[in-house]
Amino acid sequence: MDIPTVKTDRLVLRPFTDHDAEELHRILAQEGVLRYFPTPDPPPLDRVQKLVAKQLEHWEEHGFGWWAVELKSDDGIIGWNGLQYLTETEEVEIAYLLAKTHWGKGLATEGAREGLKYGFEILGLERIIGLVHPENIASQRVLEKLGLTFNNEAEYFGMSVYRYVIDAPLYSSQ
Ligand SMILES: CC(C)(COP(=O)(O)OP(=O)(O)OC[C@H]1O[C@@H](n2cnc3c(N)ncnc32)[C@H](O)[C@@H]1OP(=O)(O)O)[C@@H](O)C(=O)NCCC(=O)NCCS
Repeated sequence: MDIPTVKTDRLVLRPFTDHDAEELHRILAQEGVLRYFPTPDPPPLDRVQKLVAKQLEHWEEHGFGWWAVELKSDDGIIGWNGLQYLTETEEVEIAYLLAKTHWGKGLATEGAREGLKYGFEILGLERIIGLVHPENIASQRVLEKLGLTFNNEAEYFGMSVYRYVIDAPLYSSQ
Protein backbone atom coordinates (compact mmCIF):
# COMPACT_ATOMS: atom_id res chain seq x y z
CA MET A 1 0.00 0.00 0.00
CA ASP A 2 0.95 3.65 -0.28
CA ILE A 3 1.75 4.46 3.33
CA PRO A 4 0.65 8.03 4.02
CA THR A 5 2.96 10.77 5.27
CA VAL A 6 1.43 13.02 7.91
CA LYS A 7 2.69 16.40 9.12
CA THR A 8 2.06 18.02 12.48
CA ASP A 9 3.27 21.40 13.76
CA ARG A 10 6.76 20.07 14.47
CA LEU A 11 6.87 16.54 13.07
CA VAL A 12 6.81 14.55 9.88
CA LEU A 13 5.43 11.03 10.25
CA ARG A 14 6.55 9.08 7.22
CA PRO A 15 6.95 5.46 6.08
CA PHE A 16 10.02 3.64 7.33
CA THR A 17 12.72 2.81 4.79
CA ASP A 18 15.51 0.24 5.10
CA HIS A 19 17.93 3.15 5.60
CA ASP A 20 16.28 4.01 8.95
CA ALA A 21 17.49 0.85 10.67
CA GLU A 22 20.95 2.18 11.57
CA GLU A 23 19.70 5.36 13.20
CA LEU A 24 16.94 3.45 14.97
CA HIS A 25 19.55 1.00 16.20
CA ARG A 26 21.48 3.93 17.73
CA ILE A 27 18.30 5.31 19.34
CA LEU A 28 17.35 1.96 20.88
CA ALA A 29 20.84 1.66 22.34
CA GLN A 30 20.43 4.91 24.33
CA GLU A 31 20.25 4.27 28.03
CA GLY A 32 16.68 4.17 29.31
CA VAL A 33 14.89 4.13 25.97
CA LEU A 34 13.85 0.46 26.28
CA ARG A 35 13.76 0.47 30.06
CA TYR A 36 10.06 -0.33 30.29
CA PHE A 37 9.89 -2.74 27.35
CA PRO A 38 9.53 -6.52 27.71
CA THR A 39 13.11 -6.89 26.44
CA PRO A 40 15.10 -3.90 27.70
CA ASP A 41 18.43 -4.96 26.17
CA PRO A 42 19.34 -2.96 23.04
CA PRO A 43 18.71 -5.17 19.99
CA PRO A 44 21.50 -5.90 17.49
CA LEU A 45 21.33 -4.16 14.11
CA ASP A 46 19.96 -7.19 12.26
CA ARG A 47 16.99 -7.36 14.67
CA VAL A 48 16.28 -3.66 14.09
CA GLN A 49 16.44 -4.25 10.33
CA LYS A 50 13.85 -7.01 10.75
CA LEU A 51 11.68 -4.76 12.90
CA VAL A 52 11.68 -2.09 10.19
CA ALA A 53 10.85 -4.67 7.50
CA LYS A 54 8.05 -6.04 9.69
CA GLN A 55 6.55 -2.58 10.05
CA LEU A 56 6.22 -2.26 6.29
CA GLU A 57 4.57 -5.72 6.17
CA HIS A 58 2.25 -4.66 8.99
CA TRP A 59 1.00 -1.68 6.96
CA GLU A 60 0.45 -3.97 3.99
CA GLU A 61 -1.52 -6.48 6.05
CA HIS A 62 -3.60 -4.19 8.22
CA GLY A 63 -3.69 -0.83 6.46
CA PHE A 64 -2.03 0.87 9.40
CA GLY A 65 1.19 0.67 11.38
CA TRP A 66 4.05 2.69 12.78
CA TRP A 67 5.49 5.74 11.10
CA ALA A 68 9.11 6.82 11.30
CA VAL A 69 9.15 10.17 13.13
CA GLU A 70 11.28 13.09 11.95
CA LEU A 71 11.47 16.68 13.08
CA LYS A 72 10.39 19.14 10.41
CA SER A 73 13.41 21.20 11.33
CA ASP A 74 15.93 18.39 10.89
CA ASP A 75 16.63 15.32 8.77
CA GLY A 76 16.85 11.84 10.26
CA ILE A 77 14.48 9.82 12.36
CA ILE A 78 13.98 10.47 16.05
CA GLY A 79 11.68 7.55 16.83
CA TRP A 80 8.41 5.83 15.93
CA ASN A 81 4.75 6.45 16.41
CA GLY A 82 1.57 4.75 15.25
CA LEU A 83 -0.85 1.88 15.52
CA GLN A 84 -0.14 -1.80 16.01
CA TYR A 85 -2.48 -4.76 15.67
CA LEU A 86 -2.25 -7.23 18.54
CA THR A 87 -3.02 -10.65 17.11
CA GLU A 88 -3.69 -12.40 20.40
CA THR A 89 -6.38 -10.02 21.61
CA GLU A 90 -7.43 -8.51 18.25
CA GLU A 91 -6.89 -5.02 19.66
CA VAL A 92 -5.17 -1.97 18.18
CA GLU A 93 -2.53 -0.29 20.31
CA ILE A 94 -1.08 3.19 20.02
CA ALA A 95 2.71 3.05 20.28
CA TYR A 96 5.44 5.70 20.47
CA LEU A 97 9.13 5.96 21.23
CA LEU A 98 11.55 8.85 20.93
CA ALA A 99 15.30 9.37 21.20
CA LYS A 100 16.18 10.66 24.64
CA THR A 101 17.22 14.14 23.54
CA HIS A 102 13.65 14.75 22.36
CA TRP A 103 11.79 13.79 25.53
CA GLY A 104 9.87 16.34 27.54
CA LYS A 105 8.78 18.61 24.68
CA GLY A 106 5.32 17.21 24.00
CA LEU A 107 6.48 15.48 20.83
CA ALA A 108 5.25 11.95 21.66
CA THR A 109 1.77 13.32 22.34
CA GLU A 110 1.84 15.47 19.21
CA GLY A 111 2.74 12.45 17.07
CA ALA A 112 0.43 9.98 18.75
CA ARG A 113 -2.56 12.28 18.20
CA GLU A 114 -2.14 11.52 14.50
CA GLY A 115 -2.22 7.79 15.24
CA LEU A 116 -5.55 8.17 17.02
CA LYS A 117 -6.88 10.44 14.28
CA TYR A 118 -5.91 7.91 11.61
CA GLY A 119 -7.41 5.03 13.58
CA PHE A 120 -10.74 6.65 14.32
CA GLU A 121 -11.26 9.02 11.38
CA ILE A 122 -9.73 7.08 8.48
CA LEU A 123 -10.02 3.46 9.60
CA GLY A 124 -13.21 3.81 11.62
CA LEU A 125 -11.87 1.80 14.55
CA GLU A 126 -14.15 1.34 17.54
CA ARG A 127 -11.42 1.31 20.18
CA ILE A 128 -7.70 2.02 20.59
CA ILE A 129 -5.76 0.87 23.62
CA GLY A 130 -2.49 1.84 25.25
CA LEU A 131 -0.26 -0.58 27.16
CA VAL A 132 2.28 0.77 29.56
CA HIS A 133 4.64 -0.48 32.24
CA PRO A 134 3.29 0.52 35.68
CA GLU A 135 6.44 2.58 36.35
CA ASN A 136 6.48 4.37 32.98
CA ILE A 137 4.85 7.54 34.26
CA ALA A 138 5.79 9.67 31.23
CA SER A 139 4.02 7.25 28.90
CA GLN A 140 0.97 7.05 31.17
CA ARG A 141 0.82 10.83 31.05
CA VAL A 142 1.00 10.76 27.24
CA LEU A 143 -1.97 8.37 27.14
CA GLU A 144 -3.94 10.58 29.51
CA LYS A 145 -3.20 13.69 27.43
CA LEU A 146 -4.47 11.77 24.41
CA GLY A 147 -7.76 11.08 26.19
CA LEU A 148 -7.24 7.43 27.10
CA THR A 149 -8.21 6.29 30.56
CA PHE A 150 -6.86 3.55 32.78
CA ASN A 151 -8.98 0.43 32.41
CA ASN A 152 -7.19 -2.49 34.07
CA GLU A 153 -3.93 -4.20 34.88
CA ALA A 154 -3.20 -7.08 32.52
CA GLU A 155 -0.59 -9.43 31.14
CA TYR A 156 0.68 -8.59 27.63
CA PHE A 157 3.95 -9.58 25.93
CA GLY A 158 4.77 -11.66 29.02
CA MET A 159 4.75 -8.68 31.35
CA SER A 160 2.33 -6.95 33.65
CA VAL A 161 1.07 -3.67 32.18
CA TYR A 162 -1.53 -0.99 32.72
CA ARG A 163 -4.12 -1.10 29.94
CA TYR A 164 -5.60 2.22 28.88
CA VAL A 165 -8.57 2.60 26.54
CA ILE A 166 -10.32 5.17 24.37
CA ASP A 167 -13.51 4.36 22.42
CA ALA A 168 -14.64 6.07 19.24
CA PRO A 169 -17.58 8.00 20.78
CA LEU A 170 -15.36 9.53 23.44
CA TYR A 171 -12.71 10.40 20.84
CA SER A 172 -15.20 12.21 18.63
CA SER A 173 -16.64 14.16 21.55
CA GLN A 174 -13.22 15.56 22.55
C1 LIG B 1 7.33 7.94 26.97
C2 LIG B 1 7.85 8.95 25.94
C3 LIG B 1 7.40 8.53 24.57
C4 LIG B 1 7.29 10.32 26.29
O1 LIG B 1 7.67 11.21 25.27
P1 LIG B 1 7.61 12.81 25.46
O2 LIG B 1 7.72 13.43 24.11
O3 LIG B 1 8.60 13.20 26.50
O4 LIG B 1 6.14 12.95 26.01
P2 LIG B 1 5.34 14.32 26.20
O5 LIG B 1 6.33 15.43 26.37
O6 LIG B 1 4.35 14.40 25.11
O7 LIG B 1 4.58 14.05 27.57
C5 LIG B 1 5.27 13.50 28.69
C6 LIG B 1 4.49 13.87 29.94
O8 LIG B 1 4.96 13.08 31.02
C7 LIG B 1 5.38 13.94 32.08
N1 LIG B 1 6.48 13.25 32.76
C8 LIG B 1 7.65 12.85 32.23
N2 LIG B 1 8.35 12.20 33.15
C9 LIG B 1 7.62 12.18 34.27
C10 LIG B 1 7.80 11.64 35.58
N3 LIG B 1 8.90 10.97 35.89
N4 LIG B 1 6.81 11.81 36.49
C11 LIG B 1 5.68 12.47 36.17
N5 LIG B 1 5.44 13.00 34.94
C12 LIG B 1 6.41 12.85 34.01
C13 LIG B 1 5.79 15.22 31.39
O9 LIG B 1 5.81 16.31 32.27
C14 LIG B 1 4.67 15.31 30.35
O10 LIG B 1 3.44 15.70 30.93
P3 LIG B 1 2.89 17.23 30.85
O11 LIG B 1 2.79 17.57 29.40
O12 LIG B 1 1.60 17.17 31.56
O13 LIG B 1 3.93 18.09 31.54
C15 LIG B 1 9.40 9.03 25.95
O14 LIG B 1 9.83 9.22 27.27
C16 LIG B 1 10.05 7.77 25.40
O15 LIG B 1 10.26 7.67 24.19
N6 LIG B 1 10.38 6.83 26.30
C17 LIG B 1 11.00 5.57 25.86
C18 LIG B 1 10.05 4.71 25.05
C19 LIG B 1 8.76 4.42 25.79
O16 LIG B 1 8.75 4.16 26.99
N7 LIG B 1 7.66 4.42 25.02
C20 LIG B 1 6.35 4.15 25.56
C21 LIG B 1 6.10 2.71 25.70
S1 LIG B 1 4.52 2.40 26.46
